[in-house]
Amino acid sequence: MYKIFNTVDEVSRYTAQRLLDKVRAMPAAVLGLATGSTMEPVYAQLINAMQLAPLDTAQLTTFNLDEYIGLSAEHPQSYHYYMCKNLFNLLQIPAHNIHLPNGLNSNIESACQAYSKAIQAKGGLDLQLLGIGSNGHIGFNEPHTCFNSRTHVVELSEQTRIDNARFFTDKSEMPTHAITMGIQDILEAKEIILVATGPNKSEIMAQLFDSPIDEALPASALKQHPNLTIVLDREAAALLPQSALQSAV
Ligand code: F6R
Repeated sequence: MYKIFNTVDEVSRYTAQRLLDKVRAMPAAVLGLATGSTMEPVYAQLINAMQLAPLDTAQLTTFNLDEYIGLSAEHPQSYHYYMCKNLFNLLQIPAHNIHLPNGLNSNIESACQAYSKAIQAKGGLDLQLLGIGSNGHIGFNEPHTCFNSRTHVVELSEQTRIDNARFFTDKSEMPTHAITMGIQDILEAKEIILVATGPNKSEIMAQLFDSPIDEALPASALKQHPNLTIVLDREAAALLPQSALQSAV
């Protein structure tokens, strides 16, 4: 299902509301969380809404999608740091319920296996929030990742390194590898919300609309999911065919 809004603000408010509704209905929900510039206004809206109508988050569990290898939790460009700054420092989620892949783990293979198992042990993800890379990646599952993948180490594609270098003042610090939840882990979430905003996402959203389910376009795996919402602003939806726009609500 597509939801298309005029502005980033409306996209973010809608997405935050979906998260709030989930937590209200299910205080012990297991949430899969994403980082990136798309999610910043979503988390800001979530915090705003919770200031107006406080929500009990003491039973929530979260699993983040990914983390760069080689960056500590204190590194300002690590996803751990991002999550603390944008969400975790502002919410009361018990620390032991917050999970992120550890980019400094010395036994990375077994840490990856343990991460997917920890999600399963919690009964799976109730709601997974996703952004999308300009090459169609979800999490850091780059093109041609197996759709049955679990949490694993990836070599970041050239495109992703170019896209994400904008966050690093010293471009040479941009990591070459990351840990990501696998596509199978993501597909097992009971509900998925994919958010894309801005003109840089219009081409990939048009490709995704046309694409068959194909490992060359990781986000196309989501087309087999029974409970997927794709939330776009007008700019990200600009190249979608008229038929998609008409069926959007
Ligand atoms: C981040 C993640 C990535 C981003 C994607 C879009 O945790 O999993 O897939 O969602 O790279 O990033 P932005 O929102 O910065 O365009």
